[in-house]
Amino acid sequence: MGIVDVAAEVVANRRLSDDYNVLELAAPEIAAHAAPGQFVMLKPAAGFDPLLRRPFSVFEIVRDARGTATGLSVLNKRIGPTTGLLYDAEPRARVACLGPLGRPFTIVNRPVEAWMVAGGVGLAPFATLADALRARDVTCTLFYGARRASELFYLDLFANLGVELVLTTEDGTRGEHGRIVAPLDRRLASRHASAPVMVYGCGPEGMLAATARAAMKHGRPCQVSVERIMGCGLGGCYSCVVPMRNGDGSFHHVRSCLAGPVLAGDQIVWD
Ligand SMILES: Cc1cc2nc3c(=O)[nH]c(=O)nc-3n(C[C@H](O)[C@H](O)[C@H](O)COP(=O)(O)OP(=O)(O)OC[C@H]3O[C@@H](n4cnc5c(N)ncnc54)[C@H](O)[C@@H]3O)c2cc1C
Ligand code: FES
Repeated sequence: MGIVDVAAEVVANRRLSDDYNVLELAAPEIAAHAAPGQFVMLKPAAGFDPLLRRPFSVFEIVRDARGTATGLSVLNKRIGPTTGLLYDAEPRARVACLGPLGRPFTIVNRPVEAWMVAGGVGLAPFATLADALRARDVTCTLFYGARRASELFYLDLFANLGVELVLTTEDGTRGEHGRIVAPLDRRLASRHASAPVMVYGCGPEGMLAATARAAMKHGRPCQVSVERIMGCGLGGCYSCVVPMRNGDGSFHHVRSCLAGPVLAGDQIVWD
């Protein structure tokens, strides 16, 4: 089944902090076909403000007792009008939801290990990715960095899947003090070249660039989910372009809503 547009009912709104919440939407048609790394375009209010939909990674696929997909959730961080409305949304409200969109992560098989690197709300695509990887019995590590301990969410979900957690906070209140790429870089440096690893990244652009550079430095492949401003999510507006290297040193642009959001970290022109 392809892309569908539904007026999804809000099933639940779990507020995690003053800025973060998880919004569950009844969108079974989208949830049944969403792959890890894909996104939906959401518009929580009718009318002109905000006019355009905004992109959100699919965080969880919600299933009933038989395992049938009944909906999806998004991990939302309040930074502007749409994310503010999604933070405030009450059960039974409707949210226009278009998806599933974009190119998902490529899922590796054993003996390749999966190292997921998340910054802040960049955790969002890794719940479904970890699920898919663990279903294949792939050994997984989540490197997860946040500003403070109270902004490290859903650690139990990953721990219960059997994912090893490496945590950092910028204020040192949990895990290592500093940025998440530091322990990633050390682990990459100490890993034997014959032991394969796939690095997956999602988070702010500076963190993604540092993640991709660390993977490249140690000769490891890396898939990153880029966050560009997206006007349509469907390839029509070109607001989301990302420069990508050609083999000869020149570059070309791709629309990250179609070619991405998951792109090869070593092919993006980061500066
Ligand atoms: C593929 C994809 C998946 C995403 N998944 C999530 C998710 O799971 N959860 C989540 O909370 N957010 C996610 N985002 C980011 C979210 O779509 C944007 O932050 C969105 O613009 C917020 O809408 P708003 O109306 O609240 O604020 P806006 O008014 O759109 O933005 C507020 C301010 O932030 C700036 N801004 C917005 N987006 C970006 C950007 N990408 N880079 C730099 N500056 C920006 C704007 O210029 C503005 O100044 C995702 C983005 C992409 C591309
Ligand atoms: S968001 Fe419109 S072309 Fe990508």
